[in-house]
Amino acid sequence: MTYEQAKTLLEQKGQTQLLRYYDELSEESKQKLLTAIENINWDFEAALANPVDMSGKGRDIRPIAGLRRAEIVKKEKEFENIGTAAIKAGKVAAVLLAGGMGTRLGVDGPKGAYDIGVTKPLYIFEQQMKNLVQVNEKCGTIVPLYIMTSDKNHEQTTSFWKAHNYFGYPETEVKFFKQDMAPAVDYNGKIFLETKDTPALSPNGNGGWFGSLCRAGLCEDLHKRGVEWLNIYAVDNVLQRIADPVFVGATIDSGVNCGAKVICKTNPTEKVGVLCMDGDKPDIIEYYELTDEMANQKDENGDLAYCYGAIMNYLFRLSKLEEIAEQKIPVHIVEKKIECLCEDGVTRKPEKENGKKFETLAVDLIKPMASVLPFEVVREKEFAPIKNKTGVDSVESARELLKLNGVEL
Ligand code: UTP
Repeated sequence: MTYEQAKTLLEQKGQTQLLRYYDELSEESKQKLLTAIENINWDFEAALANPVDMSGKGRDIRPIAGLRRAEIVKKEKEFENIGTAAIKAGKVAAVLLAGGMGTRLGVDGPKGAYDIGVTKPLYIFEQQMKNLVQVNEKCGTIVPLYIMTSDKNHEQTTSFWKAHNYFGYPETEVKFFKQDMAPAVDYNGKIFLETKDTPALSPNGNGGWFGSLCRAGLCEDLHKRGVEWLNIYAVDNVLQRIADPVFVGATIDSGVNCGAKVICKTNPTEKVGVLCMDGDKPDIIEYYELTDEMANQKDENGDLAYCYGAIMNYLFRLSKLEEIAEQKIPVHIVEKKIECLCEDGVTRKPEKENGKKFETLAVDLIKPMASVLPFEVVREKEFAPIKNKTGVDSVESARELLKLNGVEL
């Protein structure tokens, strides 16, 4: 793209601030900036013009049927056999969503490279892989692993895995792919500059993972291997069970397009989004969208009717993902602290929120998947999220839960 083309485009878009320092840049930086402008994904304009209606109005929300622990325990062996057979046949792959910035944890670099050990190093990636390696040993196979990174952490992530010998995994069974980036804007919708030659871009949320995986050519790899199910999971949860044969078996057995590991809400006011039905489609309802009446509603067994909190561990049917690949999912606008170039020419991270980022969420795939099985897990055994350094969902709370599960720290 030439300077003139960039100028014309940005005048049309009302974004000429991106060329503010153009004249003082070196030739190399000029080219870098023009390429970055050419590659801007302008989808955010539509999201700003028509923000997602978060009020929940107009939906026909009802409880969803799911599998509770008692039933799972009763049929555990049967589910396990079905799941093990599918894993052995190479029908299940794992997809780790690790493109996030981990801003709340406040670390530089990939969140999975964070050391949660006390007396010896134990990295988040390492802890998660212990579980997958166990599944492989039990099933006598290797579940292929795909890892989503972003421009912000790709090099660090790939070199970290290499330096740690892929945590016992064969290198050929681990494939990395980058997610897409979206511009970050100020409260007037103007794209920030991060430096004089770089517009501020951020990972565009975890909802675009399947598109990014396909654009990286990995969908063909899945087909070549005969994969039919993708188990996606978040980097945050250090008690994450991946390719859990019982979960895989229950999902396949139920005939749905998607299995979702869930924890049951302990009280009506717990701040967690829950799985529900919206008319005849599965969906998630955020805690602030639930009325008091719904939050307290009981089912025929006296349990909370809206109790299934999703923990970002889903098993998606590949053929259905391909079928809905072209469907748009909502773009969420989130206020964030965005690192940007200040008036004095220095790049800084502000103390408080200064603008907006645009993200799609993996959870919004639930609706287009059309059928979902909530599968209850024991919270203390499978859910130890690390979002913050201290307090709720933190390194501290996760360490306690790991100890409770016999992990030596
Ligand atoms: P979070 O929503 O907790 O975001 O991600 P985050 O970026 O890790 O943390 P904060 O909000 O900046 O503190 C849940 C999961 O989705 C992945 C994360 O890596 C994590 O596994 N994710 C998130 C992506 O892969 N890409 C994204 O753009 C955002």
